[in-house]
Amino acid sequence: MNNISVIGSGTMGNGIAHVFAQYGYKVSLIDINQPALDKALATISKNFDRQVAKGSLTEEEKKASLGRIQPFTSLKEGVQQADLVIEAATENLQVKLDLFRQLDEFSPENAILASNTSSISITKIGSVTKRPDKVIGMHFMNPVPVMKLVEVIKGYATSQEITDTVMEISSKLGKTPVEVNDYPGFVANRILMPMINEAIYTLFEGVAGIEEIDTVMKLGMAHPMGPLQLADFIGLDVCLSILRVLHDGFGNPKYAPCPLLVNMVEAGYKGVKTGEGFYEYTPGSKDLKVSRRFH
Ligand code: CAA
Repeated sequence: MNNISVIGSGTMGNGIAHVFAQYGYKVSLIDINQPALDKALATISKNFDRQVAKGSLTEEEKKASLGRIQPFTSLKEGVQQADLVIEAATENLQVKLDLFRQLDEFSPENAILASNTSSISITKIGSVTKRPDKVIGMHFMNPVPVMKLVEVIKGYATSQEITDTVMEISSKLGKTPVEVNDYPGFVANRILMPMINEAIYTLFEGVAGIEEIDTVMKLGMAHPMGPLQLADFIGLDVCLSILRVLHDGFGNPKYAPCPLLVNMVEAGYKGVKTGEGFYEYTPGSKDLKVSRRFH
């Protein structure tokens, strides 16, 4: 297995391309427009620089890794040699179903088709292809070059052989893969999102302020980020859509998204990506300032 195609060059897609290229794989990075690809390659180069600066990669290794990434704006051309395709496009069911129908048509018959979805059913995605046994979830965590986990999601029809192959390839990237079954939220988000939602309820009900809630979890539970900062980092819209998948999938009111989260997303305050969520973000600054709307 040598040729990897990554669909989508946003935060997750460029991180996945980065890691595969670093570990010697040939990567086709596919997006619909050239400016998105240019931006992704610049981000990957900058993230390699962090590794060079701390001595975990040499300048030559950085150059060679970047040289293994080829950008494509055509899906058909980008996947025609693929052994493994990893889809990291928008977290939207219809977009993913359309993409997987095309991947099934354009990629080699034996290629494994993986999705980096954080909550959409792998079984449903696999059902629109003629190879549901070769459709699987490879859920990387942000920032991909740093986080050690790959949650490997076995759809209802995914074969054990394909699952074993994906577990093995994830280990070759220096990651620790964990095999889980395909139920709403899998494991990571079934546990993470109710915690984030509860933190938002704690704020909404006036139990404590933003910094207080985050400090309790950072210093009390040794989390690297508090749950509200983490929600901003993931994207409040993404958190909301995952909570809706849990709520619909289990029909249990305990997963109902906090009305404050719904309002923030509807008003366009989606966290780091829009410059404001629970905190305000200034490009290039690491300062964390509580959003003025909560003063
Ligand atoms: N690429 C390469 N290296 C990176 C990087 C990137 N994109 N981002 C950070 N790093 C490196 C830095 O260079 C630094 O390396 P050294 O310690 O070796 O110098 C290290 O990571 C730490 O970075 P910083 O010093 O900039 O900042 P930090 O110490 O505050 O850590 C963090 C940043 C790693 C993001 C940390 O805050 C963290 O672990 N946060 C929690 C992240 C998390 O929970 N992610 C999962 C989100 S859920 C998800 O992704 C899936 C989903 O379905 C929702």
